[in-house]
Amino acid sequence: MFRGKQFREQKKTRRANVVSLGKYMPPDILTNFDLEQMVDTSNEWIVERTGIRERHVVKNGMRQSDLALNASREALARVGWAPTDLDAIIVGTVTPDHIFPSSANALAGKLGAIGVPSWDVLAACSGFMYSLYQGVVTVESGRADRVLVVGAEIMTSIVDWDDRSTCVLFGDGAGVLLLEATEEPCGVIDLEIGSDGRYPKLLHMPGGGSAHPATHETVDNKLHTLHMEGQETFKVAVKTMLNVTQTLLNRNNVKSEEIGVYIGHQANLRIIDAVTKRLRLRPDQVYNNIEKYGNTTSATIPSCLYEAEMKGMIKKGDWVVLVSFGAGLTWGGALIKWGIDPLPVLGDELEAGDSVSENYSDQLKPGRDWQRS
Ligand SMILES: CC(C)(COP(=O)(O)OP(=O)(O)OC[C@H]1O[C@@H](n2cnc3c(N)ncnc32)[C@H](O)[C@@H]1OP(=O)(O)O)[C@@H](O)C(=O)NCCC(=O)NCCS
Repeated sequence: MFRGKQFREQKKTRRANVVSLGKYMPPDILTNFDLEQMVDTSNEWIVERTGIRERHVVKNGMRQSDLALNASREALARVGWAPTDLDAIIVGTVTPDHIFPSSANALAGKLGAIGVPSWDVLAACSGFMYSLYQGVVTVESGRADRVLVVGAEIMTSIVDWDDRSTCVLFGDGAGVLLLEATEEPCGVIDLEIGSDGRYPKLLHMPGGGSAHPATHETVDNKLHTLHMEGQETFKVAVKTMLNVTQTLLNRNNVKSEEIGVYIGHQANLRIIDAVTKRLRLRPDQVYNNIEKYGNTTSATIPSCLYEAEMKGMIKKGDWVVLVSFGAGLTWGGALIKWGIDPLPVLGDELEAGDSVSENYSDQLKPGRDWQRS
């Protein structure tokens, strides 16, 4: 265990197997037609240029840690683990409840995982892949047996609702996976992450940090919302996701036709199409959910993985490839040999709302209304 357990001798190869998945999307939906009433846009433009038809949005005061909580509870329940069975909780997010304490601390508190180490990872749309990387190396090192890896966002809290070029793209949601140590030849076989900090302004939120602490001026100048140079970001995204995928495939002698399921970061359907076309992937090898959820930043990959597994697209022994790209610039990829039988599907007991815990944050005012009045 991460907490004080002795480091073990590693005679066999120790790997991190993906043993459970969870997802939670807030119930309220914002369609392209709703957006037509808010900014100068059209359903046709959004669908044609991005592939997005609707996105789920938090309207009821739920916190980002509440989205993470519901998804985490589902994943834990599917394998019958208690929160205290975890050795680490890692949350990738750019929209934590607060800058500090971390969202992972809040999630651990709400789960009742008292004493379990928990921390946030800030790598924008690659936040989940960076978190997965940390979870995997922590398991492989022998310092943890069981790790919860989370991607959860309330992107609508940092969107500029006057900027049609960005507000149509993002949504809210959470996806998680559980890692468990194994000595079988399965689980996360290889990882690739990287960054290039020379292009911060391609996609960023200028205000709120120590460079531009909140003032009336920073609020008036919209420094607390995300800004993006869409076209340039698009080009770099295609190139980078392609590079990461090819690196993973070449390093492990896996051919693209051998991939069972390919999941790319859901930023724009045209980006994924461009990448998967160059990889010569068949449509049945690719899973997307951007149409329903938009870009949920760190939640896109785990929520896609959850749905692909639930739909029976992933079988034991399949190669699964996950690849992200995000602000920073950051990127990440994972090659997984799927190592479990189909997960049980839970009933309604974990459906929307009923597992949001009473906690300190609920005593604060609800989050800002996402929709312009
Ligand atoms: C943002 C994005 C969808 C814009 O699509 P695009 O085809 O590049 O569109 P452009 O930016 O060239 O804009 C084309 C026109 O559409 C307009 N436009 C932009 N948003 C619009 C909207 N929501 N509705 C209608 N028109 C819109 C622009 O103003 C521009 O008009 P103009 O030609 O009169 O100046 C696309 O660039 C993209 O997805 N980029 C990458 C995003 C990404 O990866 N983000 C996350 C990284 S993690």
